Amino acid sequence: MFTKKPPLGWNSWNTFGNDISEELLMQTADAMVKKGLKDAGYEYVVIDDCWSLRERDEKGDIVTDPVKFPHGMKYLADYIHSKGLKFGMYSCAGVKTCAGYPSSYHNEFRDAKLFASFDVDFLKYDFCNVPQGSNGPLLYHTMGMALKESGRDILFSACNWGSDHVETWIRSCGAGMYRSTGDINDNFASVRDIALSQVDKLAYSGVGCYNDIDMLIVGMYNRGNVKNGGCTDVDYKTHFSVWCVFGSPLMIGCDVRNVNDVSLELMKNKDLLRINQDEECRTAFVCGDNGNKGLCFFRHLSDNEYALMFVNFADEEAEIKLDLTNIGLWDGCGHGLCCRDVFTNEKIVIERTKTEKLAAHDSKVFLCKTVSI
Ligand code: GLA
Repeated sequence: MFTKKPPLGWNSWNTFGNDISEELLMQTADAMVKKGLKDAGYEYVVIDDCWSLRERDEKGDIVTDPVKFPHGMKYLADYIHSKGLKFGMYSCAGVKTCAGYPSSYHNEFRDAKLFASFDVDFLKYDFCNVPQGSNGPLLYHTMGMALKESGRDILFSACNWGSDHVETWIRSCGAGMYRSTGDINDNFASVRDIALSQVDKLAYSGVGCYNDIDMLIVGMYNRGNVKNGGCTDVDYKTHFSVWCVFGSPLMIGCDVRNVNDVSLELMKNKDLLRINQDEECRTAFVCGDNGNKGLCFFRHLSDNEYALMFVNFADEEAEIKLDLTNIGLWDGCGHGLCCRDVFTNEKIVIERTKTEKLAAHDSKVFLCKTVSI
């Protein structure tokens, strides 16, 4: 499927891992509607690994686990579609999925047809247990073609964790998004490592195929499958802001049935989503650098607007300085930036430089326009 904006949705893995069921998925779809996440733009409800039995049937098809999903996947797809949402599933390019379930190696066309028969709209395609000597790019080409032939328009979400210089070839395989990082876990160090590892890769993301810097941990608070210490609300705010300004797909990873108001409002922040979903899909670039403690990013948006983000990645207070020369507004050009803080709505005018003093892990995001000074 060709998609003009980074996909938004929910995925079962971060919180639930193996502990998934029809009931969970249906309740999640209900919660996405009731809590305004669907209206905010989140549309995919995706089952990750662990949805099938351990063996294929005698015809060679993967079998849905009848205990976890008693009415089968088509029933679940119908329910999710009836809520105005889209349905996603998971397979893998190897002989087994990462959790050891049957996977699509040399079964690509068969499995793509099966997913199409379930009315799937999205397929995440992982990279575990690939036979030695296999050609990774070709495995993604095979599934890319199998999905096209399946009879359904399915968004192909590749997941080889950024290996094999994936950014240079994945767009050629028909993918609509691709994981450009290893797996996230629920602490700020993981957010920081992912963010800093992506700065040089952002230019590979663009309309039709987006760098996916992994599913969100917002609202998890050290509960669930990828818990590893947890985060504060400040950490989650910075995490979500970076994912939005970097233009990553946003796949919610917490239990949306029980999400708290702070996390819910963060993930529904209209200005951050407007930046993330900007139709021009341009690349954020570094415009200020405090020796690896903090960075400042600038991104062109449509409608003559710009996003400006200051991030303190350090575990202590730090100052990050923007000099407008670094975004092309040279001293004497007669122009500065008029900016609105997307969290407080405070307005500031930057005439030449701006230094933000930020607490550990904190960030600020502004929507800006150029202004005569
Ligand atoms: C890999 C992926 C994760 C998740 C698990 C499932 O680690 O990167 O996002 O899909 O497999 O086993």
